[in-house]
Amino acid sequence: ALAIWHQLTKSEIPELAKASVLMRDRSRVETTIQAMHRAGPDALQVISDFDMTLSRFAYNGTRCPTTHNILDNDLLINDACKKRIRELLNIYYPIEIDAACTVEEKLPHMVEWWTSVHELLIQQKIRKDLLALAVEQSSAMLREGYRVFFDHLQQQQVPLLIFSAGVGDILEEVIRQNHVFHPNIHVISNYMDFDQSGELQAFKGPLIHTFNKREGALLHAAHFRKLRERPNVLLLGDSLGDLTMADGLAHTQHTLTVGFLNDQVGERRESYINSYDIVLVKDETMDVPNAILNYIA
Ligand code: C5P
Ligand code: MG
Repeated sequence: ALAIWHQLTKSEIPELAKASVLMRDRSRVETTIQAMHRAGPDALQVISDFDMTLSRFAYNGTRCPTTHNILDNDLLINDACKKRIRELLNIYYPIEIDAACTVEEKLPHMVEWWTSVHELLIQQKIRKDLLALAVEQSSAMLREGYRVFFDHLQQQQVPLLIFSAGVGDILEEVIRQNHVFHPNIHVISNYMDFDQSGELQAFKGPLIHTFNKREGALLHAAHFRKLRERPNVLLLGDSLGDLTMADGLAHTQHTLTVGFLNDQVGERRESYINSYDIVLVKDETMDVPNAILNYIA
């Protein structure tokens, strides 16, 4: 198996040999990729997280904003609200990524974080017509190689589900401004609900946070049913919670999971290797997903 593996990495997917690529079980990855390659694009679907997975974690050493952080703009919210949202980030983000804390322990804190921030945003009566400008003014960026990723999936007619605990209206705008919002994309996220005058009055549907994507997936069973003839899944995420994004699929054949390990690398390395098939350490590019896709679809 090792010999075949070396052939695959060297000739077909040399990107997998990079030092930033970690794998618990190389031969399983090898077998899965070969099986997905044989089944081809018609059997494939891609499920991806958005913030810090399709979007960049950092650029030139500076953190890039999440969809929620893009709303931290004078156009949309006042100084007191900005201050409060930053305080909440400083309290809850460390809990979200704490390697010493279980998902069960994190859950109530995540619900508190999202609920408090959404309430603050609603109080600010954010205007729908200013969202595009806020995205333009932000430093949000998609990962290097994003265009190849989005365009390739569209060309091969492979459905891309973007499953995000961020803000749907904002992530759509980021993708649109990068000219890659193709018809093969379906988004499950937290969408804003505006009143008739275009002011934010609520968030639609049940809240999605980092660690309840499984429940979110099950609620969207109808979407997954439409894709049941595509049993192979490439899943991309940056949080361990993202691994449950495919739980709405009843029948899968081969699943390959790729996790971006952006932050707290030393503390979280082991749990990521144990949970994701492929772990990409501080990799701000789509090079590995693109190379895999180029081979299997
Ligand atoms: O798209 P994704 O599911 O990754 O979006 C969730 C991310 O947004 C979380 O990882 C969290 O760190 C971030 N977040 C934020 N501000 C909030 C709530 C979540 O930056 N108020
Ligand atoms: Mg994320």
